[in-house]
Amino acid sequence: RPPAVTTDVVVVGTGPAGASMALALATLGVDHLVVTRYDSLAAEPRAHITNQRTMEVLDDLGVAGEVIAQATPQDLIGTTTFCTAIAGEELGRVRSWGTDPETRAAHVRASPGRVCDMPQNLMEPVLVNAATARGSRIRYGTEYLSHVVDDDGVTVTVRDRTRSDDGAEYDIRARYLYGADGGRSRVADAAELPMRGEMGVAGSLNIVFRADLSPWVAHRPSVLYWVLQPGSDVGGIGMGLVRMVRPWNEWLTVWGYDAADGPPDLSEEFTKGLVRRLVGVDDLDVEIVGSSAWTVNHMAAEHYGSGRVFCGGDAVHRHPPSNGLGSNTSIQDSFNLAWKLALVLRGDAGPGLLDSYTVERAPIGRQVVDRANRSIAETGRIFDALGVSGTDDPDVMRANMDARKDSGAGAEKQRRALREAVRFKAYEFDAHGVELNHRYVSSAVVPDRLAPDPLDVVEDPELTHAPSTTPGARVPHAWLAAHGAGRREVSTIQLAGHGRFTLFTGPGGEAWGEAPDVVSGLVALVVVGPGREVEDPYGDWATLLEAAGIGDTGAVLVRPDHHVAARFAALPDDPTTTLTTTLDRALSRM
Ligand code: FDA
Repeated sequence: RPPAVTTDVVVVGTGPAGASMALALATLGVDHLVVTRYDSLAAEPRAHITNQRTMEVLDDLGVAGEVIAQATPQDLIGTTTFCTAIAGEELGRVRSWGTDPETRAAHVRASPGRVCDMPQNLMEPVLVNAATARGSRIRYGTEYLSHVVDDDGVTVTVRDRTRSDDGAEYDIRARYLYGADGGRSRVADAAELPMRGEMGVAGSLNIVFRADLSPWVAHRPSVLYWVLQPGSDVGGIGMGLVRMVRPWNEWLTVWGYDAADGPPDLSEEFTKGLVRRLVGVDDLDVEIVGSSAWTVNHMAAEHYGSGRVFCGGDAVHRHPPSNGLGSNTSIQDSFNLAWKLALVLRGDAGPGLLDSYTVERAPIGRQVVDRANRSIAETGRIFDALGVSGTDDPDVMRANMDARKDSGAGAEKQRRALREAVRFKAYEFDAHGVELNHRYVSSAVVPDRLAPDPLDVVEDPELTHAPSTTPGARVPHAWLAAHGAGRREVSTIQLAGHGRFTLFTGPGGEAWGEAPDVVSGLVALVVVGPGREVEDPYGDWATLLEAAGIGDTGAVLVRPDHHVAARFAALPDDPTTTLTTTLDRALSRM
């Protein structure tokens, strides 16, 4: 049967991974078609924490401003609270998402972007609307069924769910297929991507509700209020959770169930009762918006695809929401692959470049899956400190928890243990290193023997961000001053990206600009120095270069996804050949 549509890339799904791929491809001018199973975007708030790296990506894609306008800002999301009920007793707080004074400084230094809370039902329309405005063709109600790969491309069979006649099934002919079809990915199955781990580790319920909780929360603004009650350690994500969706009248409760027993009946009586119990107000005026059951998974793909078929997002990393990395990692997967597809399709890179996608992203997916599941287990320290592990008897729980209010050495020890257990949750709620310390080691990165990576000497690479120009690292953020518009401040990260490479050099490095890849526009040359187009008034960029042993005539070559491809200590005798051979290697052009 002849294909009904021909395009360069078929994207399956309009979740964070698929929608951001569509937006990136549209921005890069790549012809593509998106198919998505349902007639609408996600209605549930689902993923929400949007970290600094994702904000940089969204800025590159031109939608950060809209996300900031709609999201709940950093200052209203950071007082993670542990309690016996929202209106009950408080057990402790941990400053989160970069709101601790020390980590706030690290956040401000690390990136031009700020963490914010953007529920998935708001994020998806921002991405999809911008993609559509830039030329994405999106087919709702269209289900991916199967695909066949051959030497020249891939034929994707889909079904128009709005039709029941013979024409409902049709073929799309494309050069590449991107499966962003979520945790039950049929594309990943059909591509036989090797998976490691376990699905259905624990059961969890989501209940979205409306109620004005401001009397109990506005003085300790947060997105997460964790509730310890009998049964809150069964299944789920560590404890009962009341999560802010919109301050302070729209919420989402997460409560666990034993996966072996299956989910309970989500009747209005059950859901309202559970919400009132977790809030701790028996006659709370509450409107249930929706409810669903889902499972905690601990699974990641070893490969994200090869040749003509790739997967991203939950299709290849399936994990609980702990650490808030779900949609962040999904968006970042797509940002890694989109420019590679664009360059290969344009003939500016060899197909081998696409192999670097799985090599670069699979280790990050594995880290995210393991981290999120470990975070659930670490909540057990709070149960241990309170002396409530292993009991569901409310009287025993109450007595053991009350013991912390006593005087005397035993109570003092318990208070210390609780303090430490709550603080330890920084590994879930303030893991700046997990969010930013990505290092890519692949054929698309050219290693060197300049200064060692500061990440090697950081005491805790999960908590602490280690900025570095090391090839494979994300280029460090430094505020520079650009000419035009009153010499506005612009980040190194904002100067880089936008679908092309960027070569940062200094006074005396202008000869790099004679290389054909600079002349063609594949590489943008940015000369940083006094009297140049871009200046370094704080000297922050110069300090970073100095630490790496890179002189003024040297250079840092940054890929379209802001990661460093290569560095050069000084201008070589033949900069044109040096840059050309470096790009030949990084782009698999030979
Ligand atoms: P996602 O699942 O978002 O999107 C998949 C897309 O593919 C959808 O558009 C779907 O319609 C489409 N699709 C699927 N099969 C298809 C087919 N055969 N043909 C065509 N289209 C198809 N995370 C978090 O951080 N905090 C949270 O509270 C939650 N809560 C939560 C609740 C529930 C019920 C789920 C399912 C997930 C969460 N998550 C979450 C996880 C978070 O939502 C997840 O990490 C991201 O949405 C992943 O984005 P993707 O784009 O990869 O998949």
